[in-house]
Amino acid sequence: MYTATRTKDLKSEGAYQVLAKAQALEKEGREIIHLEIGQPDFPTFENISQAGIRAIEEGYTRYTPPAGMPSLREVIAESAGRQRGLTFDPGQVVVSPGAKPNLFFPTLAVVEEGDEVIYPDPGFPSYKAMIQVAGGIPVPVPLLEENGFSFDLDAFDRLISDRTRLIILNSPGNPTGGILPLEDLEHIAAAAQEYDCWVLSDEIYTRIIFDGQEADTIAGLPGMGERTIIMDGFSKTYAMTGWRLGYGIMPVDLARKVGLLLTHSVGSTAQFTQIAGIEALQGDQQQVDEVVRIYQKRRDAIVSGLNSLPGISCQNPQGAFYVFPNIKTLGLSSQEAADLFLDKAGVATLPGSAFGKYGEGYLRLCYANSLENIQLALEKMREVL
Ligand SMILES: Cc1ncc(COP(=O)(O)O)c(C=O)c1O
Repeated sequence: MYTATRTKDLKSEGAYQVLAKAQALEKEGREIIHLEIGQPDFPTFENISQAGIRAIEEGYTRYTPPAGMPSLREVIAESAGRQRGLTFDPGQVVVSPGAKPNLFFPTLAVVEEGDEVIYPDPGFPSYKAMIQVAGGIPVPVPLLEENGFSFDLDAFDRLISDRTRLIILNSPGNPTGGILPLEDLEHIAAAAQEYDCWVLSDEIYTRIIFDGQEADTIAGLPGMGERTIIMDGFSKTYAMTGWRLGYGIMPVDLARKVGLLLTHSVGSTAQFTQIAGIEALQGDQQQVDEVVRIYQKRRDAIVSGLNSLPGISCQNPQGAFYVFPNIKTLGLSSQEAADLFLDKAGVATLPGSAFGKYGEGYLRLCYANSLENIQLALEKMREVL
């Protein structure tokens, strides 16, 4: 049967493909250390789980308004605003099942057929996919290792034009862990205003930052509030990947349009999940800080371990829970290196090429895993090399 052209170029996420291969090896009795999937290894915090359980027991299992329960939208506006030093109206907040719909629906709402969309490469694979489904033309801008994986601003300046409708940013970034410095955000903001573009700022890792650093939001720069969509969520910060809860913060008119797209697609986000989300934002935040301290220790271990391996060099990422080591001197493509480490060392990693053409020559390892597993993975990789 016929399928529409807009789905023709869609591909799965590399992480799911490698996970399937790793699980097939496990079925054969092999032991695999999973450094491919990007999700926290600790359970959802107890107070959040209990709030969700109570909500189900009390019957909060109904539809809610498509853009989210008013009480959750208020709490998000307050907490996301406080964290960024900005003021948001609850009417700007759109709640969604996971953060992804708040990438997809704002893109559908602002991109016309044939519009160009700038996005980071290497970057989260869903960016390119959703641009294509929306009928836009994906325009990748390389991230430069020597700039801490910030945008190549010369390339950005060459690629932005009157045809650009939307610029996607991700800081701290997946797969690199890089943070976009304020001066780069200012440069991008000036261009967004000159060419009258929207900016979609994926800030899902904004609470997972190390060494006392901070990630600025482009939404806070002069003139940017009216053209910026912040996307954030609960999956990474509160270890809630399976609950499916995220949000967007955007100008009220756009929020209404995105709310309509949610009305006619997902309907609404699960009510008990939203109630658990209120607990996540209002409950003890020290748990988040504690987990970030744990990630930082693991980051330190994996970065120094990788740098001690022959043919591998690894930057010290400032956020998220990924490292993106350079493997260019190994003489293998990133796919070959990932296959080698999976087949011979039992260590599942992702090839940088799964994140775009500029990811070639790198691997992505997720260190949301125990220190013991990280050390073991490094030993096994050393043996293979
Ligand atoms: C950069 C980035 N944005 C968005 C998401 C999607 O988050 P969620 O699982 O809440 O939809 C992810 C998840 O891996 C991500 O890494």
